[in-house]
Amino acid sequence: MVTGALASLENGAPQVPKHVAIIMDGNGRWATRNGVSRSKGHRKGAEAVREAIEGAINCGVSYLTLYAFSSENWNRPPDEVKDLMGLLHMYLKKEVRTLSKEGVRLQVIGRRDALGRDIRSLIEKAEKDTRQNSRLNLVIALSYGAREEILFACRKIAKEVADGSLSPADIDEHTISKALYTQEIPDPDLIIRTSGEQRLSNFLLWQAAYAELSFLPALWPDFTRQMFADTVLEFQSRDRRYGARP
Ligand code: IPE
Ligand code: IPE
Ligand code: MG
Repeated sequence: MVTGALASLENGAPQVPKHVAIIMDGNGRWATRNGVSRSKGHRKGAEAVREAIEGAINCGVSYLTLYAFSSENWNRPPDEVKDLMGLLHMYLKKEVRTLSKEGVRLQVIGRRDALGRDIRSLIEKAEKDTRQNSRLNLVIALSYGAREEILFACRKIAKEVADGSLSPADIDEHTISKALYTQEIPDPDLIIRTSGEQRLSNFLLWQAAYAELSFLPALWPDFTRQMFADTVLEFQSRDRRYGARP
């Protein structure tokens, strides 16, 4: 049971973040520390996803984005990439029914054409089967890179300019936001990264303009719903100024 942070959230404390995004980092170090294979570390990491989902639901968060595999992670050794894709495949196959029962809507952002056909069709099915759900929007960033996302948005917009349907003078921030994978998703209020690393690693660069950042020392497989609630509670004490004077 989650204590402390959740109790005060239930009492109607202000500013529950609408969108929390997590960089799930540290599976490899967890494996080394526990004397097991990296593959086992990733399996434990996949189990910790449940903690994040429960944490988000308990806290009343509407959007939870999980960074599962970056564009750059394709550069890892082929065996590790295969392991990670196998886990994703299993997750999509096994968890979607549970998620759907819980009222979770699943969406995937990232470069789909880089993924295998079987994973792509599981994603399409999961998105279709959970489309009506609204308790929590779970967004999985898969084969995702923010620079690539911005690059594709630029191409899309350039095409509209070239075919005459858009004038350069009419391009504004909204045009760009709507051309990103996250077109229907609000910007993250809070980005959490586990494992002690303090960087974004090409995650939501455009959308993170005014996100609050929280770096946790825990390795991802050790992440708990209590950590989620504690981080949300700490977020609530922050003063978000957006460049204006308080
Ligand atoms: C996060 O754990 C999982 C992915 C990036 C896919 P890592 O595999 O990056 O673990 P560390 O950073 O090596 O500990
Ligand atoms: C970021 O972690 C990507 C994911 C968590 C999916 P990495 O482990 O790939 O990031 P770097 O290499 O430490 O920056
Ligand atoms: Mg890492």
